[in-house]
Amino acid sequence: MSEVSNGIHFSEHIVSQIDTIKKRYPEGKQKSALLPVLHLVQAEYDGWLSVPLMDKVAEALNILPIEVYEVASFYTMFNLEPVGKYLIEVCQTSSCWMCGAEDIVAYLEEKHGIKVNEITEDGLFSLKLVECLGSCGTAPMFQIGATYYENLTFEKIDQIIANCRAENKRSRYL
Ligand code: FES
Repeated sequence: MSEVSNGIHFSEHIVSQIDTIKKRYPEGKQKSALLPVLHLVQAEYDGWLSVPLMDKVAEALNILPIEVYEVASFYTMFNLEPVGKYLIEVCQTSSCWMCGAEDIVAYLEEKHGIKVNEITEDGLFSLKLVECLGSCGTAPMFQIGATYYENLTFEKIDQIIANCRAENKRSRYL
């Protein structure tokens, strides 16, 4: 049975997946399901978490909305504003920075006509700066959805962007 409240409709598919996730944890410890549930819901709702959506998650897990906001606003993998179909998360930490992350950001901004945290007019791309993604040995790198793109060059980036345009499908972490 699907659930509707707060203007948000959770499909039967999502309700069932949330139930499955909750069952991994002991009774009364449903807050432990928060991270996987947020990943699931974000993936299902255009890659970002609105306040009504987070409130709905709180309701589904029987916890306070503030408990959801605290977690969603702490981790950079959760987006609290709309993002493009392809969210390009550029690592800007030490190794990547030393290997040209700033040039890559400038190249992407120029290529798409947007700045960091903006979305292209066609809704296809947005840019975000993130801290070390744990792939320092293959710097510079960025992540799109669940995929790491490493040892980046401008030529590689052109190919990645062309592939995204051809695919035209929302990238996902799940
Ligand atoms: S510094 Fe970029 S992945 Fe670690």
